[in-house]
Amino acid sequence: MLAPDGRVIMISGANRGIGLAVAQTLYTAGYNLSLGARNPAALAEASDGWATERVLAARYDAEDKQSHRDWVTATVDRFGRLDGLINNAGIAEDVSVEDENDEALDRMWAVNVKAPLSMTRTALPHLRRCGAGRIINVASLAGKAVYGSGVGYSMTKFAAVALSHATRHAGWEDGVRCTALCPGYVATDMTANVETMATNQMIEPDDIAEMVLTLLALSNKASIAELVVNCRADVMM
Ligand SMILES: NC(=O)c1ccc[n+]([C@@H]2O[C@H](COP(=O)([O-])OP(=O)(O)OC[C@H]3O[C@@H](n4cnc5c(N)ncnc54)[C@H](OP(=O)(O)O)[C@@H]3O)[C@@H](O)[C@H]2O)c1
Repeated sequence: MLAPDGRVIMISGANRGIGLAVAQTLYTAGYNLSLGARNPAALAEASDGWATERVLAARYDAEDKQSHRDWVTATVDRFGRLDGLINNAGIAEDVSVEDENDEALDRMWAVNVKAPLSMTRTALPHLRRCGAGRIINVASLAGKAVYGSGVGYSMTKFAAVALSHATRHAGWEDGVRCTALCPGYVATDMTANVETMATNQMIEPDDIAEMVLTLLALSNKASIAELVVNCRADVMM
């Protein structure tokens, strides 16, 4: 098992929802954190009262590649190392098979797929250097199965799973391990308007954070390629 001491983890979309829960759990466990958000000031809640020497708040805009490079550079400049990247920021918009909405589809590709790929490319040299780098892509159960006709989000999350497998191969020899984390409904802002399931039946963000904690602690010899998390009796993938 790998201890948190001194390890530096980047988390995108750390200002709310799953990203915020992950940040809180990892901080408590002893990790140093580099938190990314479109509006870094929104990270104040996440890092309120935390030791400033253990936390960096930076701008991360999925649709601005320069912000990806700047964030990674600022992280390595500040801590001198990088051990993990959690590609968490994401959006869900309605794009069905029959209703054309290319703008929404393009936005989801940009935020859910192209930005995690760009972050992976930018972070990989540093993750390779530490010998036990970790990348966790917060994909979705919608990246493993298609529910109804809502195809756009699913397409991007299937792609996020593909990215995870390709990353696992790319980094393997240098100790980088990558996981596609695939939860069903999680109780966050993203699911606030879901009518098919009550919020109190959804996965808690804190449960997802515990899984991230475990994934980060596993040794190089215990790689989990996909972690599928159900909150109802879906067919097992
Ligand atoms: N909730 C679920 O049921 C569920 C299930 C499976 C997977 N997921 C995935 O889990 C991840 C986190 O979702 P969540 O439920 O925590 O959603 P959320 O509460 O809506 O939070 C989304 C996060 O992504 C950030 N974000 C959105 N667009 C961005 C952009 N262009 N640039 C930078 N950051 C951006 C948001 O920042 P702002 O505050 O600036 O908007 C926010 O921090 C997503 O990838 C989502 O697809 C969610």
